[in-house]
Order: sequence, then structure tokens, then C-alpha cells
Amino acid sequence: MDTNDNSKTKSKVVIIGTGMVGMSYAYSLFNQGTVKELVLIDIDKERAEGEAMDLNHGLSYAPRKMKIYAGGYSDCTDADIVVITAGVSQKEGETRIDLLNRNAAIMKIVVGQIMKNDFGGILLVASNPVDILTYVAWKTSGLPSSRVIGSGTSLDTARLRFEIAKKVNISVKNIHAYIMGEHGDSEFVCWSQAYVGAKPLVDMIESLEGIDFKDLEEIHDSVKNAAYEIIKRKKATYYGIGMTLVSITSSILNDENRILPISVYNDGIYDIEKDVYIGLPAVLNAEGVNHVLKLKLNDKEQEQLKHSANLLKEVLNQMEY
Ligand code: 2OP
Repeated sequence: MDTNDNSKTKSKVVIIGTGMVGMSYAYSLFNQGTVKELVLIDIDKERAEGEAMDLNHGLSYAPRKMKIYAGGYSDCTDADIVVITAGVSQKEGETRIDLLNRNAAIMKIVVGQIMKNDFGGILLVASNPVDILTYVAWKTSGLPSSRVIGSGTSLDTARLRFEIAKKVNISVKNIHAYIMGEHGDSEFVCWSQAYVGAKPLVDMIESLEGIDFKDLEEIHDSVKNAAYEIIKRKKATYYGIGMTLVSITSSILNDENRILPISVYNDGIYDIEKDVYIGLPAVLNAEGVNHVLKLKLNDKEQEQLKHSANLLKEVLNQMEY
């Protein structure tokens, strides 16, 4: 355990919802020593207490000193990040959009409670359908859009990088490519801006370096269907999203300016429906979204992004506030 950590930054994270996603995230934070203070909140208080006890029993072997406990909404007041994972999750045969009404109602209640406690940090939404619920969280909170984000297509992007890495036999860390759009069925791959190291993926395809055009569709399908395939086999997905949320958290807490394809409010940088939250690569630091990265999409990708934004807007239009 690092007992020399005397820095004054607090790095306090509150997790709302101690289901599999919330706890996979908590366990990843714990193992990576990302935070100093971790608060667990659940409608089932005993469950949150049990989870906190269990994590605390691993502290002797953790990389740093941490304060972990089951808390209440008043703990949000001085938190740096509140992460919402509460809500029902996808069952076999359901799309993420199918969860909408149940989870939007939960989101409004949860965000109302957070804001009652003068929360001034960054709100990170992971519940599905994440783009819609991030919009609901933003509207309900009254916070600036730079401080309300969703996990967006960051998990899908990790899945994409894993698939490309396997194909070209290069470390996943050297794959730079993004899934953009809705975290859901209309998401797409921005192939025109995919790189292996500094080499454009299209060049590798042209020189037949382990990957060809027909692989692209297969990779896209496997990414788009990944959650369905996992849910079919084990009923839920949680480790991937847990690690993804840690990466988002680190970029905020360490003021890193990491580029992550998260769900952000489209402020007009892309020529699509404006009043939506959607997965776009964004620069993330201690203040939240610093700016959205404008990629040079080709015509097809621009259309795909527009289509995805229109679908999200339609869903938002059908919702009542
Ligand atoms: C996932 O993509 C279900 O949204 C969740 O794993």
C-alpha cells in the first residue's frame, strides 16, 4: 500500500447503482488505485454496505490507501464525479432503446437527488440507452453540458480496437479508430480515420497487410452485436464497461485531456441534429469536456452520423418532460 500519498487532491467518486456494472467499475477503480474515496449508493442500502465491506477487505493488497463506504446522496456534494449505473439492463431479445421509459424515470429521480445536494462535479452516465439518458440527466441537472457526459461509444471503440488488433496482429494500444454515433444499433465505424500506429488502415488494406475490405464489415458487425452475443451467453455485460468507465474517470481526475468517444452534447461541430447527446471523440479533463474533436468524415460516414443523430432525436421528441 502506498502510504506516501500526501497529495491534497481529493479524487472522490460516487457510484449510484451497485449492480454488476457499478461493481465491476468499483472493482476496477479499486485495483487500479484510481481514487482516494469511493462511495457506493444503492436503493438497496444493505447491498451497497455489503459491497463496501467486501472491497474494504481487499485493502491490504490494494495499490493505495482508499476510503470506501456505503453512503447517501449527501455524499455527492463534494464528489469530483458521480457515476450513474442505476436502472434495468438489457435482457435477451431487448435493444437498449427498449429500456428507455423505465430508466428515464429512474434517471430523473436520481439526478434530482444529486442536485439537491449542490453537486458541482462531473456527472457520468452509464445506464442505457446511454445517449438518451445522458440527455435526460443533463436536462434534469441544469449543469453545463461540458459537465454531463455518457460512456457513449467508448466501450464499442474498445471492442473495435480489440478486433482490429487481432486481425493485424499489432497491440491494441497502437490501434487508433473510433466507433461513433448512438451507443446502439445505428453506431458506425469511422474507417476513413482508422490508424495502426501512424499508418492509415486503408493503406494496410491496399497493401494486403493482414486485413482486407471484407474484414471491415465483419468487424463492424461483431462490434455492433457484441453486447447481444455476451448477453446471450452470460445474461449481462460488465467487465468491459467497468474498465471503460475507469479510463474516463482517470482522464477527468488526472486532468489528462485524453481523447475518448463519449456521449457529448453536439454543439454544432458536426453538421447533424444539434440538440442531442451522441458518441463523438472528445477531449476530457478535470473540467469535463474541453472540446469535441472534429474528424474529417467521408460522405458515407457523415450520412451514418446524421442518421444516428436523427434516430436519437426522434426518441427524444417522443419523450415527455
Ligand atoms: C454493452 O454494450 C449492454 O451497453 C452494454 O455492453
